[in-house]
Amino acid sequence: MTTAASGFEPRVFSGIQPSGNVHLGNYLGAIKRFVAMQESHNCVYCVVDLHAVTVWQDPIVLRQKTREVTAAFLAAGIDPSKHIVFNQSQVKEHAELAWLFNCVARMGWLSRMTQFKDKAGKNRENASVGLFAYPSLMAADILAYRATHVPVGEDQKQHLELTRDIAQKFNMDFAGEIDRLGLGLGPDKAYFPLPEPLITGAATRVMSLRDGSKKMSSSDASDLSRLNLTDDVDELAKKVRKAKTDANPLPESLDDLVDRPEARNLINIYSGLSDQAPQDVLTEFAGADFSKFKPALADLAVATLSPITLEMRRLMDDTDHVDAVLRHGAEQARVLAQPVLRDVKAIFGFVS
Ligand code: TYM
Repeated sequence: MTTAASGFEPRVFSGIQPSGNVHLGNYLGAIKRFVAMQESHNCVYCVVDLHAVTVWQDPIVLRQKTREVTAAFLAAGIDPSKHIVFNQSQVKEHAELAWLFNCVARMGWLSRMTQFKDKAGKNRENASVGLFAYPSLMAADILAYRATHVPVGEDQKQHLELTRDIAQKFNMDFAGEIDRLGLGLGPDKAYFPLPEPLITGAATRVMSLRDGSKKMSSSDASDLSRLNLTDDVDELAKKVRKAKTDANPLPESLDDLVDRPEARNLINIYSGLSDQAPQDVLTEFAGADFSKFKPALADLAVATLSPITLEMRRLMDDTDHVDAVLRHGAEQARVLAQPVLRDVKAIFGFVS
């Protein structure tokens, strides 16, 4: 099959911001899938601290959160001896390529990004320039490794489309120079692949436990809205117990959950945690009240998440080890990204 990534060595790239708590949405939508992809791909996993500072971060907290996300990666099963784990700010090629992509991306493209609109809110004039240019940096993260596959939650889909647009415009604008320098790959002799978003499974959009119409998020004011990977067993159980639901028992068919967002969310969470299809979960619990389903979900959440939490705590007490993992990962990342930047600068026509 010829795809937009044909001719390129398959490589996975993804990232998580070290802002706020690492929560169940990050785990099911991203980290759990990062772990699974290690079996079949070369993977590069990044703690995207340059993205985090597009909104104000307390420096002390940023340092701690960077280590916390790294600890979550390792505790969940990402193996830094086989794959690359690092923080973005240690590899300056990300920022350099992002600048060049700022000159490829169009104002109109970035203006359409819903995440910018949501995060900037009404007071756009006061948003940082970095928040607006955020998607160019994300494209740079991925394309600095000529990555072909990007596992993300559904909220990142639009950013991935923009990454593809940037890659495609670069390939077209510079087709002559790419060809002259003999740097193109695949049937189209493109320099960059068009990376494929991998948005799969039942839990690509985990919703708030307090409001089934809102995404589970680290920026939600209510801590009851999310399960954090740092929560202890009692907190996990309490949050599941207090999760908003409706008064009806669980139905037999997924179709009957269409107008029941909170119930649907809990089924999807159960499905994501247990690796069962949502319909199979419903078949098991059809007719049950939430008083029966919630304890089963709490047990499953505790059994799945608390070993990760314990290992994260251990790693958080060993900051020297975590920092060493990041430094080593950054060295390996540079080995891949530096030649790409050299090529891109030659393609642009910079004298070196
Ligand atoms: P971030 O840090 O907001 O989230 C990290 C990952 O978790 C997923 N996610 C969710 N999945 C399901 N349900 C939820 N409620 C939920 N909340 C978050 C996100 O989709 C994401 O996969 N811009 C990115 C970080 C980034 C990146 C990259 C990702 C920077 N560069 C390059 C991939 C490739 C972000 O803010 O994710």
